[in-house]
Amino acid sequence: MEKHTVLLSLVAVLSFCCIAFAYEPAPLQDFCVADLNSPVTVNGFSCKNPMMVQANDFLFRGFNIPGNTSNPVRSKVSPVTAAQLPGLNTFGIAMARVDYLPGGVNPPHYHPRASEIFTLIEGSLLVGFVTTNPENRLISKVLQKGDVFVFPKGLIHFQLNLGNEKALGISALSSQNPGIMTVANAVFGSNPLISSEVLTKAFQTDKKVIDQILSKF
Ligand SMILES: *[C@@H]1O[C@H](CO)[C@@H](O)[C@H](O)[C@H]1NC(C)=O
Repeated sequence: MEKHTVLLSLVAVLSFCCIAFAYEPAPLQDFCVADLNSPVTVNGFSCKNPMMVQANDFLFRGFNIPGNTSNPVRSKVSPVTAAQLPGLNTFGIAMARVDYLPGGVNPPHYHPRASEIFTLIEGSLLVGFVTTNPENRLISKVLQKGDVFVFPKGLIHFQLNLGNEKALGISALSSQNPGIMTVANAVFGSNPLISSEVLTKAFQTDKKVIDQILSKF
């Protein structure tokens, strides 16, 4: 009886593993260029007919062009994911260019589907990420030109330009669709808004403070 239970548990655990891995199987084809206009809904983008695929499907141009940093946070992320480069679909990789004015910040955010390896090409940045509860440890560093830092998948992280010059970073990410959750935007700029009772209680403050923050998003 006991052996039987052990065996059953083992089978249950193993089948769970298979389900867990099955969501992104190893590609069984050379490529699956994203068909951004397909009405078919799958986990990600469906594939374009391989006969219709062109070299341009594997090309993105303009990574040399700085993003427009004229915004309140004074930074701009220019992503190159499957949405911008359809040939990336199913490969589990993506890139981004990040431009910062002096004092510019890439505000606290996380990528639900990707770890990120970040190279500072120009300038100096304060970067960091925070570990999960209950420790919420801040792992932080000042980066100089040429430094490479890694942000683990799903953890909140940020970058701040400490210098008097513009800064430029290049990120590589471990998903063709990393996703971005910017904490302040998600919490204070959701559509529709989160009830201010939730926010006042969560942040242990009064409605006036919450309303002031809400007015920015
Ligand atoms: C940059 O963004 C600002 C604010 O949205 C806009 O006014 C400006 O025209 C943009 N500049 C360029 C070169 O696109």
